[in-house]
Amino acid sequence: MNAEPTPPTTSHDERRRMVLGWFMNYMPTAWNRPWAGSTPTGWTDGEFYVDMARALERASIDLVMLEDSSVVPENFGSSMTAEFKATTKAPKHDPLPLAAAISQATERLGIVTTMSTSLYPPHRLAQLQATLDQLSDGRAGWNIVTSFENLAAQNVGLDTLWEHDERYARAEEYVSLVDEFWTGADGVAFDGDYYAAAAPSALPPVQRRPVLCQAGGSSAGMDFAARWADLIVSVPTGLPAMKAYRDGIRQRLERAGTDPDSCRVLYMVTPILGETVAEAEAKEARMYSADGDNFLRRLVQLSNVSEIDFAQYDLDRPIPEDATTNGAQSILDAMKAATRGSSLRQAMAGKGESTSLRLVGTPQTVADQMEEAMEFVGGDGFLLFHGGGGLISRHYLDEVLDGLVPELQRRGLAQTGYGPGTFGERLAAR
Ligand SMILES: Cc1cc2nc3c(=O)[nH]c(=O)nc-3n(C[C@H](O)[C@H](O)[C@H](O)COP(=O)(O)O)c2cc1C
Repeated sequence: MNAEPTPPTTSHDERRRMVLGWFMNYMPTAWNRPWAGSTPTGWTDGEFYVDMARALERASIDLVMLEDSSVVPENFGSSMTAEFKATTKAPKHDPLPLAAAISQATERLGIVTTMSTSLYPPHRLAQLQATLDQLSDGRAGWNIVTSFENLAAQNVGLDTLWEHDERYARAEEYVSLVDEFWTGADGVAFDGDYYAAAAPSALPPVQRRPVLCQAGGSSAGMDFAARWADLIVSVPTGLPAMKAYRDGIRQRLERAGTDPDSCRVLYMVTPILGETVAEAEAKEARMYSADGDNFLRRLVQLSNVSEIDFAQYDLDRPIPEDATTNGAQSILDAMKAATRGSSLRQAMAGKGESTSLRLVGTPQTVADQMEEAMEFVGGDGFLLFHGGGGLISRHYLDEVLDGLVPELQRRGLAQTGYGPGTFGERLAAR
């Protein structure tokens, strides 16, 4: 008989299994919507979000990523009024204390917090992350961002942020220093171009270092992500762009002599689910209808991501061809093209933005699509987000966690429990 050992089959099954995360904003929940719940304005005490983390863990979701930004934007109509009606970025609480509360209410869920290299002194950040890793017993992750709003800089006494690529050059040094605080047993002696430190190291984390996450979309951002990240979250739109993004990251890793499988790439999606495809499509049409609260929210969001004041344009006309911006030129050009022969309102009606894939249907058809997408892209999983211009509700969570995720689990595409070890070890074993 052939004595050759049978290769383990788990590795193949493990690789088929998607990594699933959820993007959480510590902000008002769907207080003015039909599924607001009985304490619609009670988001500030964190109870909704701690409960949500428990639900994510019940569904064996790998990780929650807590978003952070510290501004009340004035991009739409040059005032805060629309922002407070739309609540896209404000009001908002700090994610770190919420992460600490979540760490005490859960046991296995990975807990990734966003912290900006432009806004925290490195030693504070090293210590806060190490503390979260201790509180969660090895489940902390850091979403490394460099911030992009000048208003954020003004909160800490700067007029403006550093220019985009300089922010990444600084971040490069920043993360090296933070890593020394985590690992330098004999203290830190660091003398760089931007940072210097001579101090005993911070409290060490449980993991060698927290799981490092990043979302660089630009070339400098992708270089940085490929150098540091264990996990990347991204929103390239459509299958070819998703594949190109992941290939771009993997090529960078290969050039650096790093195993490309050591870094996972997740794509941001907002599944819209119904008991029939027609029901889900009707929901999508309502979510992205060109009137009502969601529409204002989407316009304000578009202004915030692009720093273009969309309040200056007539909703029922095309964007003028001679319109210019100091904000995101690519977004203005795309909106000009989209409104040629139609209006801004018509161009935004019926379809969503800020997700990688349109996922609209029953749990079965959406699971089919996710499976096919991962086969095509060769990707590692998804970052779920309520999106759609709406606010989060338990109702939406249930649709995904009790409808879609069990369907993925039945197909062996999502884990049904957590493996052993720390968050980083579990991720590396996937
Ligand atoms: C899924 C996702 C989540 C993000 N979360 C945050 C965040 O919480 N705070 C923040 O300041 N930036 C956040 N960003 C912005 C990224 O850090 C990054 O700046 C952006 O993707 C543009 O890439 P670039 O910096 O390479 O130009 C996020 C981006 C993505 C795609």
